Amino acid sequence: MMSKFEEYFKEVGQWNERWKKFLEAEEISKSESVWDNLDRFTDIVENLSSTVDEKALVNLQLEVETLHNEMENYFSSRQQVGSIWINEPAVPLGQHKLPPLAYPYESLEPFISSEIMKLHHQKHHQTYVDGLNQAEENLKKARENGDYSLLNHWTKELAFHGSGHYLHTVFWENMSPKGGGKPEGKLINMIDSYFGSFEVFKKHFTEAGSQLRGAGWALLVWSPRSRHLEILQSESHMIYTQWDTTPLLVLDVWEHAYYPQYKNNRRAYAENWWQVVNWRDVEKRLERASEIKWPPY
Ligand SMILES: [Fe+2]
Repeated sequence: MMSKFEEYFKEVGQWNERWKKFLEAEEISKSESVWDNLDRFTDIVENLSSTVDEKALVNLQLEVETLHNEMENYFSSRQQVGSIWINEPAVPLGQHKLPPLAYPYESLEPFISSEIMKLHHQKHHQTYVDGLNQAEENLKKARENGDYSLLNHWTKELAFHGSGHYLHTVFWENMSPKGGGKPEGKLINMIDSYFGSFEVFKKHFTEAGSQLRGAGWALLVWSPRSRHLEILQSESHMIYTQWDTTPLLVLDVWEHAYYPQYKNNRRAYAENWWQVVNWRDVEKRLERASEIKWPPY
């Protein structure tokens, strides 16, 4: 007769295989993190010996539970559109999370020390995540209470921590222990045609980072309007801007936009403005902008 452990071991192995077949049948891309989770689990199962004790069995059960929850979260975040499933999770208000790094802290050495990476990711980035969640929560409270007395403060926090969180998330993904070299395909063609050459682009970008006054970022951006690349500098993370977002509806509150008619009554201008908003345009912008989907954090 099979021991309690052997039975469980076999069951878990089959369960793991079923998930793999299911993911394959659903054509889930190998780059999705669920695959990593399954592979990690396979390693654990394969490295167990048949003489495993109760403690190892308990650990295995915990792993199964974790994996099960991960799978459930993954699939509950998918939506069915027609006959196909699409992966379209969103970040609920106040629930941003620190994204895990795809490589170990020490793997960018000697170019970036393990010490910097660890502190930068675990402490600094976490602070932006917490600050963004706090700003979103406090603005929700303001909407509920109709009390906008701290609006400017929380909106600034939203921009500062939001930009901090989104830009760091891009920054981690922009790096790899296997990095360096040159871009290829469309990117190198666009760099060559706009900046002249890859070397010139690198020089310009390096200068943008080096010469920036104070703290901030150098950014290579894509402009959907001009349809070319550009190099920008951002002092701090923003100035009221949340990078990595797309404007949909904008109100010009410079004096030239209302003063000749409304004088100093900017509020009256802002209230009347709703009479002329073209919602068809805003809807169209949302449609186009939401075609871009990044992993939710
Ligand atoms: Fe940073």
